[in-house]
Amino acid sequence: MTTVTISVDNKTVTASAGDSVLKAALDAGIYIPHLCYDKRLLSHGGCRMCIVEIEGMRGFPAACTTAARDGMKVATSTPELDQVRLDTLELLLADHPADCLSCPANQRCELQKVAVFTGFRERSLKPIKTEHPVDDSNPFFKLDRNYCILCARCVRTCDEVTGVNAIEIIHRGDLSRVGTFGEMPIIDSICRSCGECVVACPVGALSLKAGTVATEETASVCPYCGVGCGLILGTRQGRIVSVRGDEANPASLGRLCVKGRFGIFEFVHHPERLSEAYIRRDGRLVPSTLEKAVSFTAGKLSGYRPDEIAVIASAKATNEDNYVLQKFTRAVLGTNNIDHCARL
Ligand code: FES
Repeated sequence: MTTVTISVDNKTVTASAGDSVLKAALDAGIYIPHLCYDKRLLSHGGCRMCIVEIEGMRGFPAACTTAARDGMKVATSTPELDQVRLDTLELLLADHPADCLSCPANQRCELQKVAVFTGFRERSLKPIKTEHPVDDSNPFFKLDRNYCILCARCVRTCDEVTGVNAIEIIHRGDLSRVGTFGEMPIIDSICRSCGECVVACPVGALSLKAGTVATEETASVCPYCGVGCGLILGTRQGRIVSVRGDEANPASLGRLCVKGRFGIFEFVHHPERLSEAYIRRDGRLVPSTLEKAVSFTAGKLSGYRPDEIAVIASAKATNEDNYVLQKFTRAVLGTNNIDHCARL
């Protein structure tokens, strides 16, 4: 792979050809404030927080939309540059609630981080008070447009990552907001409730309705289907309280569908979930050991002819388990009557 070498704040940084100045700096551990940049998405250049000075270039280009070229000399902070960034930030904050403590994104808010980094102290502009409607229609997440900074990360994620295109930036000027086709509630739109937009949101505009801060995290694999998406399960006192995608998992690269992201909480701790084997005795299901249940089932199966038996495999089982099940059905039970719930 071709590489380029640039200087960022007098530090030598090597990047892959085609990388933006922002990606090169972030990969090298040099923080440049940014809000609309998301490493999963195409560069947008909308928030202007990542502006830099580049020797020989006019003005303050956005680091996220400027390709790193060999020999570039980049400064991420000069008195003039810092002032322009601060002024832009102030314009953003003029239309943003100042109730950080009660905001669902408090302490993980990227706007908060940028404000702290740039040394923002207090507003000098009169706040703009445009009331935007809140969309609470989705059972899993809420869209409070009053916290939105119009970075379009949710919109671009819905397009570039999931390919659904359920949301867009609608209207103009200070009425601009995230909305659906025909401005219908999200739940009535083509949204698939995967929650990828919530993950992309850098502020508190899109927030989850369930879950809380975990004390421990464990990597796992989603049990819902055979794709094998990686989950990071957050637990607190032995109960799952959060779920996020595992970026290190090659099958899913951190992405999840509605079942993996929101369906785990309910079924794992459901009081009616089967956690031991049962056998039917005198018309009632009674708890049993697994060994007894297997020999009970084997005994019952031997009383039927092959064409009286049908087997349904499970999408929750692994490919290997399902392979063994079809082998057992065909070779041991002697029937081809086997199907799989994922074929529906
Ligand atoms: Fe570069 Fe927003 S991160 S303009």
